[in-house]
Amino acid sequence: MEIKNVVIPVAGWGTRSLPATKNVPKEMLPVYRKPIVQYIVEEAIAAGISDVIFVTNQNKRIIEDHFDRNFLLENLLERAGKDLLLQEIIRVAEMANIISLRQKEQLGLGHAILQAKDVCKHDPFAIMLGDDLVFGKDAGIKQLIDIALKEKKAVVGVIEVPKERVHKYGIIKGTEIEPGLYEVNSLVEKPKPENAPSNLAIIGRYVLLPEVFDDLEKQEAGVGGEIQLTDALQGLADRGKLLAVKLRGKRFDAGDWVEYLTANIYFALQDDALHDDLSAKLRELLPPK
Ligand code: G1P
Repeated sequence: MEIKNVVIPVAGWGTRSLPATKNVPKEMLPVYRKPIVQYIVEEAIAAGISDVIFVTNQNKRIIEDHFDRNFLLENLLERAGKDLLLQEIIRVAEMANIISLRQKEQLGLGHAILQAKDVCKHDPFAIMLGDDLVFGKDAGIKQLIDIALKEKKAVVGVIEVPKERVHKYGIIKGTEIEPGLYEVNSLVEKPKPENAPSNLAIIGRYVLLPEVFDDLEKQEAGVGGEIQLTDALQGLADRGKLLAVKLRGKRFDAGDWVEYLTANIYFALQDDALHDDLSAKLRELLPPK
């Protein structure tokens, strides 16, 4: 058994990042040299996934174009002798099979995932949310896939968050069965701190079983009047088929300006060509007190 499909919902408006996202999809905002969505797709490919299913809307076509060949640009780079860039552009275009599905009304994350039913109804599949960037060796979706294949269960990625931030996330209540691995008993989407069953928050990485589509079809609107994925996952939990694992690695919330900017600096600092100059500029901006 392998997991070959990932669903990446990209139909959201990106209101947290306006006005930058008025006409540019938030998934196409750059983190250093690459758009956010490229990091997500690269993480999926590194975990052995081959097919990327974007759940999209009419304003998001440039996301698909980013993963397609562009012969005009390729010719130009070839004639200019820019071989490294040319190879990089072609590599991105050939990285994955891309499937685009339209979410014609934005009725919530659960509704977005339901659009992928016909493509994903036969095998376990991954979901990755574009706001969450996760980095580190075998971190992110690979960590979940390894557990899902071993345990034959669905898995969500979680991190510990401070109590005052639980209202931003889906929160799980679980029984720890191994260090950092939980059997999920119940889940609640964006609870008030006083109602949160724990401080374990779902981050945008999931491996689910196709039976979740039956749950999603029955799911009524929840918090914010939206069909919530978190609510539908209660079905898997009730049937004893949902685990949660604490995510390793570094994580940035790309929809938060501080974290988005930090991610840019983090990646730029990894590049030897920029490291020293950028460090000097940062010191200029933040002189010692
Ligand atoms: C979504 C999910 C939530 C999850 C979060 C992770 O919320 O509904 O359960 O914790 O992503 O980023 P959103 O951030 O889209 O409101």
